[in-house]
Amino acid sequence: MNSDNSNSIESVLQEQRVFSPSDDFASKSRISSFSRYLEMSEMAKSDPNKFWGDAAREELHWFKCFEKVLDWSNPPFAKWFDGGKTNISFNCLDRHLSSSIADKVALIWEGEPGDQKKYTYKQLHKEVCKAANALKSIGIGKGDLVALYMPMVPEAAIAMLACARIGAPHSVVFGGFSSEALRDRLINGEAKAIITADGGFRKDKVIPLKDAVDCALEGDSCPNVESVLVVQRTKKTIAMDKGRDYWWHEIVDSQSEECLSEEMDSEDCLFVLYTSGSTGKPKGVVHTTAGYNLWSHLTFKWIFDIRENDVYWCTADVGWITGHSYIVYGPLSNGATTVMYEGVPRPSKPGAFWDVIQKHKISIFYTAPTAIRAFMKTGKEIPDQYDLSSLRLLGTVGEPINPEAWIWYRDVIGGGKCPIVDTWWQTETGGVMISPLPGATPTKPGSATFPLPGIEADVVNSDGESVPDNEGGYLVVKRPWPGMMRNVYGDEKRFRESYWEYLKPTDNKYIYFAGDGARRDEEGYFWVMGRVDDVINVSGHRLGTMEIESALVSHESVSEAAVVGRPDDLKGESIVAFVTLKTGAEANKNIDAQLKKHVVNEIGPIAKPDEIKFTDALPKTRSGKIMRRILRALASGDEISGDTSTLEDRSVLDKLRN
Ligand code: PRX
Repeated sequence: MNSDNSNSIESVLQEQRVFSPSDDFASKSRISSFSRYLEMSEMAKSDPNKFWGDAAREELHWFKCFEKVLDWSNPPFAKWFDGGKTNISFNCLDRHLSSSIADKVALIWEGEPGDQKKYTYKQLHKEVCKAANALKSIGIGKGDLVALYMPMVPEAAIAMLACARIGAPHSVVFGGFSSEALRDRLINGEAKAIITADGGFRKDKVIPLKDAVDCALEGDSCPNVESVLVVQRTKKTIAMDKGRDYWWHEIVDSQSEECLSEEMDSEDCLFVLYTSGSTGKPKGVVHTTAGYNLWSHLTFKWIFDIRENDVYWCTADVGWITGHSYIVYGPLSNGATTVMYEGVPRPSKPGAFWDVIQKHKISIFYTAPTAIRAFMKTGKEIPDQYDLSSLRLLGTVGEPINPEAWIWYRDVIGGGKCPIVDTWWQTETGGVMISPLPGATPTKPGSATFPLPGIEADVVNSDGESVPDNEGGYLVVKRPWPGMMRNVYGDEKRFRESYWEYLKPTDNKYIYFAGDGARRDEEGYFWVMGRVDDVINVSGHRLGTMEIESALVSHESVSEAAVVGRPDDLKGESIVAFVTLKTGAEANKNIDAQLKKHVVNEIGPIAKPDEIKFTDALPKTRSGKIMRRILRALASGDEISGDTSTLEDRSVLDKLRN
């Protein structure tokens, strides 16, 4: 971490309203009282091996049961359920086929243009087997990494499950990333194959995914990639490279509908998912088979209190961890009906989400605060036109939710009757860590409330010591949990340094540093206040400021760049870039537009700066570190508070102010 972020952990929310679960909701739920939650937490704390061991045996199918629950003898490298053999694709599909779930709808998909598909568990199983056999037929086997660069189509979920079935780790790259960003991930992960589509529909336009893949593979930039599997979605004309590219329908449809699941070791890699950090390029977060399966399964069951007849919809994209854990693996492992929607609300259809809820009688809806704020802005008149009475539970994820948006969500979307689960977690944690249990936890708008049973979260200072109630500090987790990331792909050092060695506990214990600031109030509620590192959260998308800076400085006219987040009512944060140009380059509208376009090409539209401020110099300390605290204040028009005596050149500040 290379900047002073003290500002961000000082802001304290002042929300005191409490909403308890209704008696009706509580009486029907699995964990139906706060005392039951406390009891479970106590059980997990006093005998974690028994708690997790029992859960793993009860909730998952094992080809061979594990010998040891947790091996933490070589921290921070954990081994969960060592000696066990299982397969998450089997747990999501095959094990349901011998029960009434076999003919239940597993996946409801709706495309942006309004086309629809439904798969029962039996049908989904067949599709996954065919896709798995197709992957085998092009030489993909256990341990080969397969990148997915897909629109939100059923084949995305099918491909993930097919990879898991044959033991090929997947690495899903969000379809909104550029070809450059895709290439970086393909190279880092040494992907052997890519699954993509001729395009995807987004906001009434076609996103040319296959073109981007071709561009990423140009020359010999990704020598490991041997084949590309292309789903036909838009019927857009695309180039097909003979010998490398295959149409999905040509090689999948003719395959056998039977494919045995590979018996995976508990700690075999299930997937790699890239996410932004404080430094350098995005890091490949590694998740393994059994622990991730248990954590996504159990958290889904607890938090959404899933029932036989629920129709559950999470609006995330499968390119993010939320899509992995709570569109695909968690719901299917529980035998639930999960909905996938290709579109987003757009000018031609502002009520798109409410239409999906009405049409499919969604009972559980999980979305991001940024979406809720956008809906608030367009007004309740739009959701009011739809029948949302099927809803019984609402969730949020991805960023802190402001109490005003929480209340609006509860009243306007939930009709005042649905509990809200504000779920705090990260790509690295595999599943939710801090969240209300809907039948048990009294909620306070804006607070993710309490850690789930077995999660020992705390708020600490830089020595790893707990801070007093209501004081800001670093959010940490003090004990391993099954869904924890196991490594940064190919970079153990970064894994240690980013998460386990940043704080220096005096007892040398390994505690997990999440990168977020938080406070705990006098009743033990956690209030997550956002990142304390150089990561920003723009519309729920996590971006590294250094990544955007590297993109900017790779432009021929840029000498130096510093990027900060500016609080934004709608997006949470917006991106402000301070740029110094090389001699000869002139700050004008033209270069402003060029630089924004350049960032879009390097990373993707989500990283496009909202504002570029050209400056002759950046404020730095004598040791050359950029003082982002000052830039953040300047970007948001705030007073510059705190010490500025370490500035190397004070005149820079005056110039920037002017
Ligand atoms: O800052 C926290 C924020 O999102 C970060 C994790 O981002 P990512 O790995 O992309 O995963 C997003 C989906 C799980 C966290 O470090 N965050 C996530 N959920 C919340 C949140 N901040 C506050 N409240 C939340 N409920």
